[in-house]
Amino acid sequence: MAKLTVRDLDVRGKRVFARVDYNVPLEERDGKMVITDATRIVETLPTLKLLIEKGARIVLASHLGRPKGKPDPAMSLRPAGMKLHELLGKPVEFANDCIGDHAEKVVASLKDGDVALLENVRYYKEEEANDPRFAAKLARFADVYVNDAFGSAHRAHASTEGVARIVAGRGGQCAAGLLMERELKFLGEELEKPARPFVVILGGAKVSDKIKVIDRLLEKADTILIGGAMAYTFKLAHGEKTGKSLVEPGHARTALDAEAKARKLGVNFQLPVDVVVATAVDTGKRNKKGKPIFDFTNIRTVNGNIPDDAEGFSIGEETAARYAEIIGSAKTILWNGPLGMFEDARFAGGTNRIAKAVAAATRNNGAKSIIGGGDSVKAVNQAGLGDQVTFMSTGGGASLEFLEGAVLPGVAALTDK
Ligand code: 3PG
Repeated sequence: MAKLTVRDLDVRGKRVFARVDYNVPLEERDGKMVITDATRIVETLPTLKLLIEKGARIVLASHLGRPKGKPDPAMSLRPAGMKLHELLGKPVEFANDCIGDHAEKVVASLKDGDVALLENVRYYKEEEANDPRFAAKLARFADVYVNDAFGSAHRAHASTEGVARIVAGRGGQCAAGLLMERELKFLGEELEKPARPFVVILGGAKVSDKIKVIDRLLEKADTILIGGAMAYTFKLAHGEKTGKSLVEPGHARTALDAEAKARKLGVNFQLPVDVVVATAVDTGKRNKKGKPIFDFTNIRTVNGNIPDDAEGFSIGEETAARYAEIIGSAKTILWNGPLGMFEDARFAGGTNRIAKAVAAATRNNGAKSIIGGGDSVKAVNQAGLGDQVTFMSTGGGASLEFLEGAVLPGVAALTDK
């Protein structure tokens, strides 16, 4: 059902509590937390500019990271506030708590068109518990509720759902922001009646993570191209050797069922015909998170069985070429999940080739290309093609759940038109 959007609101002089998803990646540099990718902040600017133009008093709320209900300076939203100030070209007041006296003062000082950002709502465990008393404290700042946090819309938390319910209970309006509206359009409406051929590219590590999406998209797609470690479970199900590759033997049946469903529905379901493999060697070193660092030797491409000592890390060149050709004639493309370990240049070739094919189809064939969030967005950006696709989702888990057909609590809570 269509939801109210910020366009429909008359908010002059009103306090608009806007939930955004400023859960951005941060890195410590010279003792300071620095934002390494501000996309999620940039993408909220159209909503914020519209609200400013409409004379709203904007109170922004977000989470950052998973601080487990306690303040953690490494997960403060202050750097996000500074970035927003820079991007908007106007001051953004920062409240060093999301509730309580200081936040009350900051919000009370707002004039029409002013913007304030509250500190991380997850500094309180009540946020994730969707505690009604905590939601009521946040709702003190809300005459109107706006949700532009698509990335968090799959969470039924106080700031994503509880506050909306309270505002609606008072007869107030709860609207989608422009980013939320775009996400719902491209990951939802556009895929309901896609221009054909509709080609879906699915990668990522596990069949179990993607099976609901595969199942749903089998009903809509003309072709599904499978890659990433998920492909090795399909290989295993076919009785091929998978060496040391990541596989889910418990999901071999699931994989075969998906293929059978594809056959029944006449969907062209493609699996990799070649794989880039390597032998992983523990260097004895550890990364910042304490995980072992591996080196990779004997990198080569194999067709069929993967040798016992080897592990698959990407689709091979022949697969990439076949997939690229199919993508070249698509009119709608949905891509979710990388097709290999693209973070390592030695295994990025297949994923990069697919990113180029998607960009080319968009440019030359007028295809609508939709990148379904998380690592696939990183992969397209790493290939330098972020501006050559139709839409890139800011969601990770949220995009996946939405593509699975789930009703997102953060969307359900908004006012119907
Ligand atoms: C995300 O990065 O996917 C969202 O911000 C949600 O974060 P969460 O998985 O910690 O709820």
